[in-house]
Amino acid sequence: MGHAEPITAGDIVTAPASDFLRDAWAGLDRPEKSINPKWLYDQAGSALFEQITTLPEYYLTRTEISILQRHADDLAQLVPTGGTLVELGSGASVKTRTLLDAGRHLSAYVPIDISAAFLNLTADDLRARYPDLSVRPIVGDFLQPVALPDDMASRPKVGFFPGSTIGNITPANAVDLLSRARAWPGMEAFILGVDLVKAPGVLVDAYDDAAGVTAQFITNVLVRMNAELGADFNIADFSYQASWNAQDARIEMSLISGKAQTVDLAGRQISFAEGESIDVSMSRKYTVDSLTQLAQASGWTVRQMHCDDAKQFAVAVLTPM
Ligand code: AVJ
Repeated sequence: MGHAEPITAGDIVTAPASDFLRDAWAGLDRPEKSINPKWLYDQAGSALFEQITTLPEYYLTRTEISILQRHADDLAQLVPTGGTLVELGSGASVKTRTLLDAGRHLSAYVPIDISAAFLNLTADDLRARYPDLSVRPIVGDFLQPVALPDDMASRPKVGFFPGSTIGNITPANAVDLLSRARAWPGMEAFILGVDLVKAPGVLVDAYDDAAGVTAQFITNVLVRMNAELGADFNIADFSYQASWNAQDARIEMSLISGKAQTVDLAGRQISFAEGESIDVSMSRKYTVDSLTQLAQASGWTVRQMHCDDAKQFAVAVLTPM
């Protein structure tokens, strides 16, 4: 393999400094290739994920919303009068509105998200809608320690982490996240959305829909590497695969190389064998037992599990152990 063509100005000259390129190199330049799923969510990826949430096979979002609606009063009552709701990875805070509508006694809402632009837009919108609520956004990555504002230390608070997002991180990271939330002063409860173990066919379909939207969502990471990192992935030579790993109770989302090939990633050659995979994302599914274990390992107990009638999804209420 010869060296790549010379780097041209305006092409990737500034790219070696980018987190995306460093991360992509680190993930692809090793025997078990992977890409960090956080790179799925550029503007196109976020729009594709929005589309996924409306697919017939993707029962998660609508099921969770119906559980939140059904139990909104009880859930809002977990927050004492004058208390604070703290949401991890709040996005547009769509599900939160169900709780805020039922929780007019709350004094503050703290949305935490990595996107500052998104947070500020949402905060303005919420302030207009709930004039008595103090909305205090924090730009931050919930996988890292996040400090809450000093003046909130003495206030009772409840955490909110919907969407089955806890399923996208490793078990060790999930314990770290819940342990850190447990350590926030005044923490009284944690509302956690988890997807449940069920028939593998139903799970695989939810992550490999007939319309191919999920395939496009996952493949978007290759499209992004071509556009932003000067990679030359031939998109047609990779196919999407969702599989159920029963041992680890998770769906695994991968891109499979259809042939032996070499891809240029900003000057570094990445070789693929035929059938070799790139692991892009995973989605852990829980049972009462595995959720109980996770909670206990993080200083919480499972006080309630609100499920839909078909037991597809759960909104769990954790309280300090
Ligand atoms: C929003 C990250 C929870 O794992 O179900 C959906 C992401 N990926 N289909 C999930 C996703 C493919 C989703 N999360």
